[in-house]
Amino acid sequence: MRARAPATGMPPCEAAFAPRGAPVATTDGVELAPLCYVNGRRVLLPPGRGEATLLEFLREKGLTGTKLGCGEGGCGACTIMVSAWDAASGRPRHRAVNACLAPLYSVEGCAVVTVEGIGNRDAGLHPVQARLAAAHGSQCGFCTPGFVMSAYALMREDPAPSDAAVERALAGNLCRCTGYRPIMRAFTELARQAREGDAAAKEAAPAGRVCPSTGKPCGCGGGAKPGGLLGASVAADDAESTAAARAAEGLVTPAEPLFPVELRRREPKPLRLPGAHATWHRPRELDALLALVTAHPHARIIGGNTEVGVEARFKGVEDPVLIAPTHVPELTALKETPDGLRVGGAVTLTDLEARCHEVAADRPMACAAAAAVASQLQWFAGAQIRNVATVAGNVCTASPISDLNPILVACGATMTLAREKGGGVATREVAAADFFLGYRKTAMAEGEVLLAVTLPRAKGVAPGALDIVHDFKQSHRREDDIAIVTAGVRVLLEPEAGGSYVVREAGVGMGGVAPRTIRCQQVEAALVGQTWGRKALDAALRAVREDVTLPENVPGGMPEYRMALSSAVLFKFFAKATLALPAAAVVDGDTTRAELESAAAAVHRAPCDGQPTWPPAVDAAGEVGQPHAHVAAEMQVSGEARYVDDAPLPAACLHAVPVISEKPRAVVTAIDASQALAMEGVEGFFGAADVPGDNMIGPIMHDEECFVAVGSEAPCCGALIGLVVAETEAVARRAARAVEVTYEERTPVLTIEDAIAAGWYLDNTGDKPHTLNVGDTEGVIAAVERGEGPEGARVVHGEIKIGGQEHFYLEPMSCVVSPGEGGEMVVLQSTQCPNKTQVMVSGVLGVAANRVVCKTKRLGGGFGGKETRAAFLSAAAAVPAQKLGRAVRLVLDRDLDMKMTGTRHPFLGRYAVAFQPDGALLAADVQLYSNGGYSCDLSIPIIDRAAFHSDNCYAVPNFRVRARACRTNLPTNTAFRGFGGPQGMIVAETWVAHVAAAVGLEPEVVRQRNFYKAGEVTPFGQELVEGEWRVPAIWEELRVKADYDTRAKAIDAFNTGSRWLKRGLAMVPTRFGISFTAKFMNQGASLVHVYTDGTVLVTHGGTEMGQGLHTKVCQVAADALGVPLASVHVAETSTDKIPNASPTAASASSDLYCMATKMACEKLMARLSPYRKAEGKGWLQAAALAAYLDRVDLSEHGFYATPDITQFDWDEPSPKGRPFNYFTMGAAVAEVELDCLTGEAAVRRADVLMDLGRPLNPAIDVGQVEGAFVQGLGWCMLEELKWGDSEHSWGREGHLISVGPGAYKIPAAADAPADFRVHLLEGADNPRAVHSSKAVGEPPFFLAASAWAAARKAAAAARSDAGKGSNFFRLDSPATPERLRMACADELTADVAADDFVARLSC
Ligand SMILES: Cc1cc2nc3c(=O)[nH]c(=O)nc-3n(C[C@H](O)[C@H](O)[C@H](O)COP(=O)(O)OP(=O)(O)OC[C@H]3O[C@@H](n4cnc5c(N)ncnc54)[C@H](O)[C@@H]3O)c2cc1C
Ligand code: FES
Ligand code: FES
Repeated sequence: MRARAPATGMPPCEAAFAPRGAPVATTDGVELAPLCYVNGRRVLLPPGRGEATLLEFLREKGLTGTKLGCGEGGCGACTIMVSAWDAASGRPRHRAVNACLAPLYSVEGCAVVTVEGIGNRDAGLHPVQARLAAAHGSQCGFCTPGFVMSAYALMREDPAPSDAAVERALAGNLCRCTGYRPIMRAFTELARQAREGDAAAKEAAPAGRVCPSTGKPCGCGGGAKPGGLLGASVAADDAESTAAARAAEGLVTPAEPLFPVELRRREPKPLRLPGAHATWHRPRELDALLALVTAHPHARIIGGNTEVGVEARFKGVEDPVLIAPTHVPELTALKETPDGLRVGGAVTLTDLEARCHEVAADRPMACAAAAAVASQLQWFAGAQIRNVATVAGNVCTASPISDLNPILVACGATMTLAREKGGGVATREVAAADFFLGYRKTAMAEGEVLLAVTLPRAKGVAPGALDIVHDFKQSHRREDDIAIVTAGVRVLLEPEAGGSYVVREAGVGMGGVAPRTIRCQQVEAALVGQTWGRKALDAALRAVREDVTLPENVPGGMPEYRMALSSAVLFKFFAKATLALPAAAVVDGDTTRAELESAAAAVHRAPCDGQPTWPPAVDAAGEVGQPHAHVAAEMQVSGEARYVDDAPLPAACLHAVPVISEKPRAVVTAIDASQALAMEGVEGFFGAADVPGDNMIGPIMHDEECFVAVGSEAPCCGALIGLVVAETEAVARRAARAVEVTYEERTPVLTIEDAIAAGWYLDNTGDKPHTLNVGDTEGVIAAVERGEGPEGARVVHGEIKIGGQEHFYLEPMSCVVSPGEGGEMVVLQSTQCPNKTQVMVSGVLGVAANRVVCKTKRLGGGFGGKETRAAFLSAAAAVPAQKLGRAVRLVLDRDLDMKMTGTRHPFLGRYAVAFQPDGALLAADVQLYSNGGYSCDLSIPIIDRAAFHSDNCYAVPNFRVRARACRTNLPTNTAFRGFGGPQGMIVAETWVAHVAAAVGLEPEVVRQRNFYKAGEVTPFGQELVEGEWRVPAIWEELRVKADYDTRAKAIDAFNTGSRWLKRGLAMVPTRFGISFTAKFMNQGASLVHVYTDGTVLVTHGGTEMGQGLHTKVCQVAADALGVPLASVHVAETSTDKIPNASPTAASASSDLYCMATKMACEKLMARLSPYRKAEGKGWLQAAALAAYLDRVDLSEHGFYATPDITQFDWDEPSPKGRPFNYFTMGAAVAEVELDCLTGEAAVRRADVLMDLGRPLNPAIDVGQVEGAFVQGLGWCMLEELKWGDSEHSWGREGHLISVGPGAYKIPAAADAPADFRVHLLEGADNPRAVHSSKAVGEPPFFLAASAWAAARKAAAAARSDAGKGSNFFRLDSPATPERLRMACADELTADVAADDFVARLSC
């Protein structure tokens, strides 16, 4: 059971950290109390916690500003700063670290600073925090403390960093809400100011004066330095006087702690900290380390714990003996020797990179490998990982996709292994090429440790010879991603007579193409002795197929792409090496310099920036229309904002961990929880048999089981079988693994195509697909195909698959369920729909709804994922809570969250489209199939919305769309921003592109030619009203704003001169219908209380998940009541305040709740106006008191139901109606650069123009547009869900392969458009919504398809250069590097795939 201190935002008192029981402090004979400092306070580390992470410890102690987002180092939400004294430089080193992976005892002797430790709203925000809040850099705020701490740690270490350093420091932090632009803007501006301060300091510095702390010129007088906003780190002697030291360290808030004097003076001692589950050893000497390894042959050496920590958390690996080599001098040494650069095994990657840069800059040819290592490390994980991960950890893991190992193999590095021998140390050397024996198997013998790795010095190089080494890495995402293929290539070129060069030596190491890092011996043999030139390259390209040929079902998949990459490695190396030769060098072959340059070039990436524009507020003095910061922004940046798992737990709270089905389709024949129940601390296992009410649940249809019962069919991997409940989460986790489930397996149906074949559909959409119908689509298409249509008319047929998308809200699913008296139950949950939770909990428990209250303060992101799928977790947790009469906490680990809770629906779109030679559309017959997973959930309304948007903005006189939701054995798929609309629209943009290719026009011309005109009617019968239909006007305005025509020409010119790097420019429109398509859901209520001090409390039915709903409601209320914004507060959402509320979804919540609030406020205004005695915004205080004394009700309820919409009836033969209140419209232009050899793509620039009416808060709306666009980029360019299915037969059947941030990549900062320009349309009234505003959450999402369309154009240019003509080619979504590379179809892919190859996709 956890006891938490209240999260006041102030550092908790030292008492909170006092360990229970006497500190265990044994060393080899030396007594020492293990300690660290946390936010400036001395903390004795508790005994017996060898297996604990620093994050667990911090959060137990109430420092809940540090978040648990993934637990595997992949999101950065847990970032903190760890500082350690560096005796060599005489100053502390400050490092950002992932607390989720840092072992608690690894910070012994260090100072830890969390977000609470640098500033708060009472003591003052730190500039890093204040800047982020002011820049609108937080939305849901869950990622925010992590970003703050990454930036803070960077600036403590480097007070005036470059923009590139800022970008790099943030690469290990993910944000799912903002689109990154405001975050980057906040910190790069801060850094710029710091640099300017630094420059000023340098100018003021006496000539030649060098700062003892930073090594840079300064005027600090030997200790204190004014450089940068945060100042530089304190020099040794300054730390005596706190005031002087604080000034010297540049600390700017009272909360911010100085590096402790005690730690500066303290000599680290060897440690042995025993525990029930793990004993932690920290030897200080090599022989002690080796003695430990000999004594405990199965001990784990813990470097940075970035590999072991992930295994422990997600694979349940428990290591009873842990040995940290981090304080053994031989392992931490990094020095140049006659043999080369000798790198101790425990050297961190950050230190290695820094030294390699130095070596490469000073003596480039002396150790050519150093530059390649430094270059490779730029793309190695995020800063938090590199700061702790060690060289030996990377090498000894022997991962086939290790980034360092191929370079070590290529350059002929040697590994020095050490072991104990006769009480001394014996060492041996092994060549890197002989070190990797198999999958995660090395040549290291038992009892050996990796002492050092030596990067060789170039020896005996002939005059004029060139030793060239290059690295290569291709991953899904550029930043912080594990490689798909990674390599190192080295050649020693010696000059020959006649100006040519001969390959004297060659080394090629490759990863990602075999179960281990391999040496490509055939390639090496093909190169050595050859004259450098095209013939040598061709020989190498032939030979690489002997080294690298992958079978169809190779583990990891993508065999064609990986083989193509292995060729790209050689081609790119050839280009780079050739360009490095002297200008007079003779190189055979006809490869031009321009071609080489384009092959050697990397895709251009720059830190994301841009200046949004928006219309001015209608009333400059009013609150509505003002770009106020999110009302919780300051709490978010300081870590004070509380999420479900941050609140103090109720007394005696238990922890639940799910047991899930491991089979995709199988009858559960038995569940044996006996082993789990026997564990100490386990309170019980709860399943279907324990449900007192109805085990059948579902948001619309009750077609799923809360717990899969014995005798029932488990419908997917991840289906909930039961919950283990225990005193601690760790015990519950261990016990859940011990529950044995027996199954009787059946053949699963996993893909849409399987479901179509099996006739598996959800609800009635199979027999009777939901159909929209205009004209005679079939007849027209048939006539054109018979040649009886208009002259020159033709028909194209095609298909596109669209993969799913994981929500990846940063805050995982969380709830705490507390039983009360008489069947009462209070649920705290991160949900978009407290009402659904209330209903589902009451149904499962069999108690009346009036006994169940669900409360939601805020969500750390939802995006649709917490609309329905949160409720069933609370329902499940409520069962043990009721039965045991104790509160139960259920927070899903990231892997379970991804396996259990469903995703955006994958879609299959098929079409036949008839058109005229000028691109005018005649008829479109579209079929949409979604993969709904095992139950209905929201699949039917989602497929309906896909159908409603399947025409996007195009008038097709004969149009038919038939939509079906397939049932499969996947977790049930659910709502996700856009709710099927984007899938319908991307199918439309595919047939538009297909038509354009067929008629030889740009897709933009076909788009514009077919736009609806005002007054025309959609296939579902809704008129696009004159004065409200703005897409054509937006299109024209954006074309000018984005300078489309000029840039299109420039890109054509660029592409003509660039063979391997191509660019594409594309423009896409969108029209998104606003309203829930279930009419009854379009209602919202608000409750407004005025207090006698003039403050206002609003409670409404919507939840705050980062979208700024509460901020807008506050603005509307303040405006309506004529009071300052600060007087209005929105409390938590709670079902006992506002009953029966619809989910916060469909982008409609501002419309509903702002209007309901406005109505309530207007009624209050009318009631209070007789008491108004003063003008100005302070009037309410006196008026409220006067009204109260006069016995006037100061409370009002507002209720709003969207007018003029109809319930759409799909049972009609040709259904028509008005399902939407209005449309939000927009368009985007994206410019994409594509490396045709690797498929890597980057968005160089994006321009978005949105019609948001008169925005309620333009800054928040811009944030929504940017965030939606970048999330959309993830959907259509990057994020790929892979399941073990017919497309990925190497994976476990029905299991999600892409689990966690390590395997599933959402956009990072470097994936956002480098130049991001969002404009909100001016002069656009909307009489249909509150204050003439428009809904914003979902509509911009689809506009990211402009990047997908631009990437298609870039690939088309490459195909054209490769002689494939300009025919249409299929490009499924997401257009990942794999799909784009293979679409480029050229001579390097010819031997591995056909020109029309379509990469596999789970769909
Ligand atoms: C988010 C994330 C991103 C990552 N990105 C990348 C990436 O881009 N590229 C990449 O290659 N890897 C990546 N990794 C994998 C991993 O971080 C690296 O391999 C890292 O170098 C491991 O170092 P460590 O010190 O943390 O290893 P640890 O987890 O401490 O140890 C790993 C293994 O090495 C053994 N070991 C450690 N030191 C020694 C020694 N001196 N002698 C003998 N055995 C030893 C340990 O016993 C253990 O078995 C990533 C991991 C994470 C979590
Ligand atoms: S929680 Fe630590 S990196 Fe995600
Ligand atoms: S604000 Fe970054 S994840 Fe929500």
